[in-house]
Amino acid sequence: MEAEKKNDDFEPGAAQFGNFINYYDFNPPQNRLALFEGKFCEYFSSHQPLLCLDVGCNTGELTKGLYKMLSSGQSDVRMMGVDLDAQLVQRANEAISNELESKLQFQTVNVVAEAEERDQLLSRYLETHESGRKRFDIAFCFSTTMWVHLNHGDAGLESLLACLATWADNVVVEPQPWKCYRNATRRLRRTNRPPFPLFDALIHRSKVLDHIDDVFRNRMDMELQEHLGHSEWQRPVLWYRHKPTANLAI
Ligand SMILES: C[S@@+](CC[C@H](N)C(=O)[O-])C[C@H]1O[C@@H](n2cnc3c(N)ncnc32)[C@H](O)[C@@H]1O
Repeated sequence: MEAEKKNDDFEPGAAQFGNFINYYDFNPPQNRLALFEGKFCEYFSSHQPLLCLDVGCNTGELTKGLYKMLSSGQSDVRMMGVDLDAQLVQRANEAISNELESKLQFQTVNVVAEAEERDQLLSRYLETHESGRKRFDIAFCFSTTMWVHLNHGDAGLESLLACLATWADNVVVEPQPWKCYRNATRRLRRTNRPPFPLFDALIHRSKVLDHIDDVFRNRMDMELQEHLGHSEWQRPVLWYRHKPTANLAI
């Protein structure tokens, strides 16, 4: 299939954390944005303000596209993108126009290795934007689960999923299937970089998508609200939300 081939041929050089400087030259946001047209935006149109988080935002192009899409149906959307790479975050902030500055911002944090800083950043953000607010309406996490899994192991992946579920009422995730892990390790080999140190120890491998689903449903007490479709690179885009009865304590 052409789309899958394009993903297999993705050769931007190796980046240990997926922090590709030119990511959007290879994977422009449009095909993923199209999955959110209509019902998804309508569902959130009454949330005022709508507070969103994007984990692993890179240079922010998809974040900005989502912001524009969500705010076209309603006036008050605020969004924060976070990424571990300060250079990418700086680029993302530089690309924001003046009129968007109060609504859209980007911050540097490793959401798994710097949990304390992360929690401070997120709670400060919520408090600034709506006093008393404990969670975001939506946490997005596109094409980042694999990088966390490869660099922080099974425990790191679970910690990322717990972070998303704890800090938001709704989670939209685009996890990479196992095939992508093999491509990522091959790219490191080709560029003579050391392998991901935790790769051999990973327990969750070919069924990693099932594991992610299991964590959200059975540990985080969420349900799959909608399978929004597949991105051009054939990755599922899944929308989970907390069950109405879920007991959410941060
Ligand atoms: C492949 S890019 C995906 C970018 C964007 N989410 C998208 O799909 O268009 C993965 C991003 O996740 C970031 N990332 C990886 N591990 C992270 C972590 N532990 N904390 C924060 N960001 C992380 C990388 O720096 C990189 O920019």
